[in-house]
Amino acid sequence: MGYIEEIERRRTFGIISHPDAGKTTLTEKLLLFGGAIHVAGAVKSNKIKKSATSDFMEIERQRGISVATSVMGFEYNGIKINILDTPGHQDFAEDTFRTLTACDSVIIVIDAAKGVETQTRKLMQVCRMRKTPVIVFVNKMDRPVQDPFDVLDEVEKELMIGVNPLTWPIGSGDTFKGIYNIHKQNLALYQPSIQTITPAIELDVESEELNEKIGDRAANKLREDLELVREVYPNLNREEYLAAKVAPVFFGSALNNFGIRELLDCFLELAPSPLPRETEQRVVQPEEPKFTGFVFKIHANMDPNHRDRIAFVKICSGTFMRNTNYLHVRSGKNMKFSSPTAFMASKKDVIDEAYPGDIIGLHDTGSFKIGDTLTEGEKLQFKGIPSFSPEQFKYIENADPMKAKQLAKGIEQLMDEGVAQMFVNQFNNRKIIGTVGQLQFEVIEFRLLHEYGAKCRWEEMSLYKACWIESDDDKALEEFKKHKAQYMAKDKDGRDVFLADSSYILQMAQDNYPKVRFHFTSEF
Ligand code: G4P
Repeated sequence: MGYIEEIERRRTFGIISHPDAGKTTLTEKLLLFGGAIHVAGAVKSNKIKKSATSDFMEIERQRGISVATSVMGFEYNGIKINILDTPGHQDFAEDTFRTLTACDSVIIVIDAAKGVETQTRKLMQVCRMRKTPVIVFVNKMDRPVQDPFDVLDEVEKELMIGVNPLTWPIGSGDTFKGIYNIHKQNLALYQPSIQTITPAIELDVESEELNEKIGDRAANKLREDLELVREVYPNLNREEYLAAKVAPVFFGSALNNFGIRELLDCFLELAPSPLPRETEQRVVQPEEPKFTGFVFKIHANMDPNHRDRIAFVKICSGTFMRNTNYLHVRSGKNMKFSSPTAFMASKKDVIDEAYPGDIIGLHDTGSFKIGDTLTEGEKLQFKGIPSFSPEQFKYIENADPMKAKQLAKGIEQLMDEGVAQMFVNQFNNRKIIGTVGQLQFEVIEFRLLHEYGAKCRWEEMSLYKACWIESDDDKALEEFKKHKAQYMAKDKDGRDVFLADSSYILQMAQDNYPKVRFHFTSEF
């Protein structure tokens, strides 16, 4: 197969949802269809139950599972599919944001009864920022749920994206009869089944046969619904989907294996193969012959005696080859990898080569940071791996004076891995750790102790936001920094960050220093 065909047959995407909407179940069903696994229940839920916030065994278990299921690759009808898993727990949202930077498209799962929930809204914000094409799967139609038109309105309003249903549900809960595939014009009758796939029947919606299959009432309702659908939602324009303006919507029940085939078949037809990527210097096209890629995730070894890690690299252009020298742009060093791995369903294989769209795992002894670029020599830096202002902040202090070095090293490596963000207050030189949620502090403390033998202590502080600041006027920026010296910090890359105590203080700063711009993400 030629190089271009290899690129075109790749679909690399993420499945995202609010916890419990059905992401794990859908992932598993897609793997079942793809023949990558053979029994339901093979994909372990990559989530920490709410009750387990202080259960460190649970954290370790989660880390073990998430490395195994971080990327699930399989072939289906000649297409190479790579599903990137994202942590379900919202305290690890930053990890999910970064994984999204490696996705060429996403599938959003929504619980039909609950509609659009908080986490989905946040994740969609990231997709919008990056203009990632989005497909929506409305799950749990086997339960009594809202009217599908209301669900669509909610998705449109809450996710701020146009919608276009490609399948249509017939009833829900006890009256759930099946799904009409608007795109392919066929009907699948609902049969709850954990393992098998219900075949669809070709059928004219106007035919008597429809009444025989689903009864007069449901048949008439479906005809009315479809008429309205045609009026309100004209034919899907793929370009609009690719430009992230419109999301195709599918209905189904992941648990019952229903509506998944329709989703997968359409997904393969519509979803983009690897897309061009922006760097600080230029746009990289996937078809370019020279290899480029970036690190979007780093996973520490589960064994505390071996402090090696796996760096997950998304290939953006060219062919990656085993045992070949590549430039690690940040350090300027050449590196070669003797055992790069590909992730097939839940196992890893050493590979000789990989193509754009693929994710490979590189053995890392501490050289990589999130966002690092690898090339054949060109000095490029891929964009689009921003840090977001954390939600919670604490000072981190050394609790064992004999282990200061271990603590410093542990903190540095955990930050490189992207476990949380660190800011150094420029006034008192104290280290501040910023997270999305409490669980991250617990993970850091646990891992520092078990992997680095270092003890830390947290000191509470009240901070509202960390804002990256900039200005076109150097003098104005310096003046601001001087006036706010106590609240100025540097992030891991040495950028200036203003630590605002409250929304009021931030507002005041914005009003008083109109020449200074305040950003809630590190990339602007
Ligand atoms: P998540 O990864 O998005 O957090 O969700 P997950 O797939 O784990 O699903 C959350 C719960 O919803 C699970 O039940 C799952 O069985 C159920 N579920 C998923 N899809 C459907 C569906 O189409 N219909 C119905 N009725 N339920 C669905 P659980 O009781 O929390 O877990 P489990 O004990 O069944 O694993």
